[in-house]
Amino acid sequence: MAKRIETRDLNIFYGDFRAVADVSIDIEPRSVTAFIGPSGCGKSTVLRTLNRMHEVIPGAHVEGQVLLDGDDLYAPEVDPVLVRRQVGMVFQRANPFPTMSIRENVLAGIRLNNRRISKSEADDIVEQNLRGANLWNEVKDRLDAPGSGLSGGQQQRLCIARATAVRPDVLLMDEPCSALDPISTLAIEDLIEELKSDYTIVIVTHNMQQASRVSDRTAFFNIAGTGKPGRLIEYDDTRKMFSNPTKKETEDYISGRFG
Ligand SMILES: Nc1ncnc2c1ncn2[C@@H]1O[C@H](COP(=O)(O)OP(=O)(O)OP(=O)(O)O)[C@@H](O)[C@H]1O
Ligand SMILES: [Mg+2]
Repeated sequence: MAKRIETRDLNIFYGDFRAVADVSIDIEPRSVTAFIGPSGCGKSTVLRTLNRMHEVIPGAHVEGQVLLDGDDLYAPEVDPVLVRRQVGMVFQRANPFPTMSIRENVLAGIRLNNRRISKSEADDIVEQNLRGANLWNEVKDRLDAPGSGLSGGQQQRLCIARATAVRPDVLLMDEPCSALDPISTLAIEDLIEELKSDYTIVIVTHNMQQASRVSDRTAFFNIAGTGKPGRLIEYDDTRKMFSNPTKKETEDYISGRFG
């Protein structure tokens, strides 16, 4: 399941604007990698290139390579829909399909992929992924109720269950806890800790404590000024990044002296 992601000299554009420059990073499988850095430095932009979601924005394009276990995700013969099945994504705002039941939300990705499944197979997938997302006990008696009737933290866990149901190799999470209270945040962090035995996980977060709690490795991105591209400044073991970073820029940012 879990696969390695490598980017090589990644340059990411919105029209003529180069938002991110020269990112080469090697993301380990079965581990959690945190992306940190100030607003606008390109964390979400980099994340979206890892499952080819960037190119759905008109005028947006990518130069360089993204390799999944050595295979170039941008090779001409590669189907981006298949890429998004292998590399799942969870967004900042939990976005369950509001009119769909909890059960159908978990199955939504599988239905989109047109895979035919029996009722009992569907039941198993629903239970297994809701258990995996630590949500089963809270919703097992109301699987046919709408997903929008859950709390924010429950909706975020439902989105994680929906993302894992298609059995991706990689899970990308863009600030998955920023709209959540501390208890729900801890529930998601516990879940990330459990999921990392099966997945490669990349999480964008503005919360330094969260990055140091959940991640094995941390990548710090920064921008030199408005209109300049974001760059990867330093990438290392999380413990080292937060105790003894090599670059002064990293130290200034993590100790709150940025800006
Ligand atoms: N759809 C878009 N069209 C044009 N420019 C964009 C688009 N999305 C992002 N950008 C620009 O790309 C740069 C990087 O943005 P991005 O959203 O990746 O930053 P970020 O690090 O995720 O910031 P934040 O922490 O605020 O989420 C910014 O200059 C931003 O204005
Ligand atoms: Mg962002």
